[in-house]
Amino acid sequence: MIETRLIDGKAFAETMRARLKGEVAAFIKETGVTPGLAVVLVGEDPASAVYVRNKGKQTLEAGMASIEHKLPAEATQDEVLALVRALNADPAVHGILVQLPLPGHIDAQAVLATIDPAKDVDGFHVVNAGRLAVGLDALVPCTPLGCVMLLKDTLGSLAGLEAVVVGRSNIVGKPLAQLLLREDCTVTLAHSRTRDLPAVCRRADILIGAVGRPEMIRGDWIKPGATVIDVGINRITGADGKGRLVGDVAFEEAQGIAGAITPVPGGVGPMTIACLLANTLTAARRQLT
Ligand code: GUN
Repeated sequence: MIETRLIDGKAFAETMRARLKGEVAAFIKETGVTPGLAVVLVGEDPASAVYVRNKGKQTLEAGMASIEHKLPAEATQDEVLALVRALNADPAVHGILVQLPLPGHIDAQAVLATIDPAKDVDGFHVVNAGRLAVGLDALVPCTPLGCVMLLKDTLGSLAGLEAVVVGRSNIVGKPLAQLLLREDCTVTLAHSRTRDLPAVCRRADILIGAVGRPEMIRGDWIKPGATVIDVGINRITGADGKGRLVGDVAFEEAQGIAGAITPVPGGVGPMTIACLLANTLTAARRQLT
């Protein structure tokens, strides 16, 4: 029986935010400029509102400026694009994040394409996605970046390891596959049409759940000793009728099989905002030099 280690993303993110706070203070002293992060929220999706509130709070705690723009759910695409263009032109704004999902009548790709790639702290612009794919300096999506930081902290070098990413979204799966490739992993990007997914997962030294399906990845899909990163945050109703958060991995079943695993909550989630703050400081630095 393996002793499964818990990967404490919350503690790692706290350490990272404390370090960033020092770096932000030094940057302000050196340049006289306070890095600014603008967050655009369209509509009233409750989960998005919680994320945006947390982002604003942690941006201020790191010593950066937080600029929040809330538009009604009926805002037109032209209104959203006009706001993004104004933020592109504003020298006090170094990072722009448009919270997804956007209401259905707005073309998200058109909005993301309008963000200045130099201010694209989510790394969702095709220029940043392309730069990542060809190995140039890029602003890298925050959740995948946080996953790789936790993996390197847990395992050291990732070179030569078999990594299986379950989920092929533009936000997590695809950029994470690129980052793992950059770390010299052998990468499999699995998805809903993958044949014999359990067998594919059993090959993984590094197994990543990023599909958004509660507890889909079972204990017997995990190779003994593998490192498991659970990106899923799914709200379910438990047997007691109460709501709770679970990941994409059956956490209890993984105990005694996985070598190490991230919990939900407290694993990958806190890393996303910490990486967003790091990207904002990076973007500010590049814009001033
Ligand atoms: N919605 C869920 N995750 C994210 C994210 O990382 N960035 C943005 N902009 N929206 C999201």
